[in-house]
Amino acid sequence: MRVAFSDLSTPPPTWAEIFGNPNPVEVEIGPGKGAFLLAMARNYPERNFFGVEISKRRAFRLAHLIEREGLANAIVIHADIGCLLRTFIWPNSVSVYHLYFPDPWWKRRHQKRRLLRDDFAHLLASTLAPGGKIFLASDVPDYFAALVQQLTAVPSLTRFPWQRDHVTRKGKPILTDCERKYREAGHSLLYAGFHKHV
Ligand SMILES: C[S@@+](CC[C@H](N)C(=O)[O-])C[C@H]1O[C@@H](n2cnc3c(N)ncnc32)[C@H](O)[C@@H]1O
Repeated sequence: MRVAFSDLSTPPPTWAEIFGNPNPVEVEIGPGKGAFLLAMARNYPERNFFGVEISKRRAFRLAHLIEREGLANAIVIHADIGCLLRTFIWPNSVSVYHLYFPDPWWKRRHQKRRLLRDDFAHLLASTLAPGGKIFLASDVPDYFAALVQQLTAVPSLTRFPWQRDHVTRKGKPILTDCERKYREAGHSLLYAGFHKHV
């Protein structure tokens, strides 16, 4: 993990300062074990990938894998995306948000811990660059519907019928760890895309 950010009195670094280049930045929220982020970074060196993972163990494990592969275009940070959206991520700066099977806490009693709380959808939209996209996948219909509803309510966003099109340079699908597991188990999965107006 290469980003240290402890002084809230100074402005956060820009993506160009963090990655050392002006390439577009894609943020994966909750990369977990990191199969998707690692594969995307390997296949698309002209884009930067920034993982935000609230589990310390997972974040450190993924940071180790990134270092081991020497992927200069990938970074993972141990943080809560809800906090980063308010303090760290510049408005209109993210080219893509990847939000895949984001909430392990979808049961009603876990509602307080959900990403969906507060103004999550508005914060995502405001930090997204004009023309930027949000890709969403879930296996929990109620949760998916609630998230889609929140995002649809943001005036600057429009939904489009995204299925699955993240592939390697050779056209092989790039899946997340959960996605692979759920597909193998025969679960039906839900996908949606949103883009921000230019
Ligand atoms: C069910 S796992 C999915 C992991 C991965 N996206 C996949 O599809 O395999 C959800 C991940 O989101 C992370 N997470 C949950 N809430 C988060 C938050 N507020 N900020 C950052 N990461 C979060 C969890 O720690 C976990 O690693």
